[in-house]
Amino acid sequence: MGIDRKEATSLLDTLSVLSVATNETGDDATTPEEDWEDLPDDIVEAELQEERQFRLQVRHKGRRHDTGSEKVLERLLADSDGLSDLIATYKPTRHEKVWLLSSLRDFYDQGMITDVLASVKGGKEASVYCCRASQNIQEVVQSEFIAAKVYRPRIVRNLRNDAQYRAGRTVLTAEGKAVKNSDTRLMKALGKKTAFGKQVQHTSWLMYEFTTLQALHQAGAAVPRPIAASENALLMEYIGDENRAAPTLIETSLNQDEAQLLFLEVKRNIALLLSLGWIHGDLSAYNILYHNGKITLIDFPQVISREGNPDAEDLFYRDITRICDYFTAMGVKANADHIASELWRKFTGHTDN
Ligand SMILES: Nc1ncnc2c1ncn2[C@@H]1O[C@H](COP(=O)(O)OP(=O)(O)O)[C@@H](O)[C@H]1O
Ligand SMILES: [Mg+2]
Repeated sequence: MGIDRKEATSLLDTLSVLSVATNETGDDATTPEEDWEDLPDDIVEAELQEERQFRLQVRHKGRRHDTGSEKVLERLLADSDGLSDLIATYKPTRHEKVWLLSSLRDFYDQGMITDVLASVKGGKEASVYCCRASQNIQEVVQSEFIAAKVYRPRIVRNLRNDAQYRAGRTVLTAEGKAVKNSDTRLMKALGKKTAFGKQVQHTSWLMYEFTTLQALHQAGAAVPRPIAASENALLMEYIGDENRAAPTLIETSLNQDEAQLLFLEVKRNIALLLSLGWIHGDLSAYNILYHNGKITLIDFPQVISREGNPDAEDLFYRDITRICDYFTAMGVKANADHIASELWRKFTGHTDN
């Protein structure tokens, strides 16, 4: 007999705690430190402290529940009957397979993807996979591939200082609509941080990424075309080719002329986002892809509300500074203070002091 979605989610949460304990997930093979270079030092230090504490606690718990972990895993894998085509090519670990099946089955059931082909990269809060797109979707994206960004289970995902980014943002539902204050059940759950409330926050985080991609794509920005979102994953245009996914700018060395042109393009995109009322909030050469001489901005779940977030201007300066640091190293003259204050003035009408 099958497991319903709610039960699967709760089993997955149990499983993810246990797998962190035994360090079995493929995605967990790297230490968190390795993927955190693009976060500010103070945040990284605080988060690492918490992560170490969490791992210690969980390791202790895991010892007592090891057989439970096996049982949960077996039940979830047994429930995956009929989904063998979805993960035919890529060979995930057993835990990763459960996670992929549960996160991608909606896209498979809706006939959007037909197979997971390869893991592109495991980031600090999500892993991205290259999938084969269905015929319909291939026509939309003009490619046989599509990228699936699968978020880590919410229980191990809490790596960023979410609250700083969420300030001034309404919570978004799975349909991308703002949660109303009049929805008292939801508001209570959010306030009390119940498991349901945390799931709602998790969905909201992901929906900010999806709705920002939609708005930016529609406005002509250099972002992957968004295709669909589910509770734990989103589908978007795959940047790369059959040989490899596009590298990030940090992995790319540009000559000065090309760097000059791409710097202008990055600034155009930053301005476009600001004109829509948003700041990336985690922009750096780590979150820009480079493919066929073009750049693509990615990774938007933490977007900052320009008007609603008290730290908006500081975070905007931080984004611009990181971008300028990269392009300066490529030989471009880039004055972060000057660029940031010009753009800020232009789109907000405010001066710095
Ligand atoms: N649309 C895409 N096409 C190809 N590769 C992608 C795409 N989106 C993300 N990636 C790859 O996956 C990595 C992680 O994605 P990202 O959105 O930055 O998540 P994280 O929050 O985990 O850093 C990126 O650094 C990039 O290498
Ligand atoms: Mg990233």
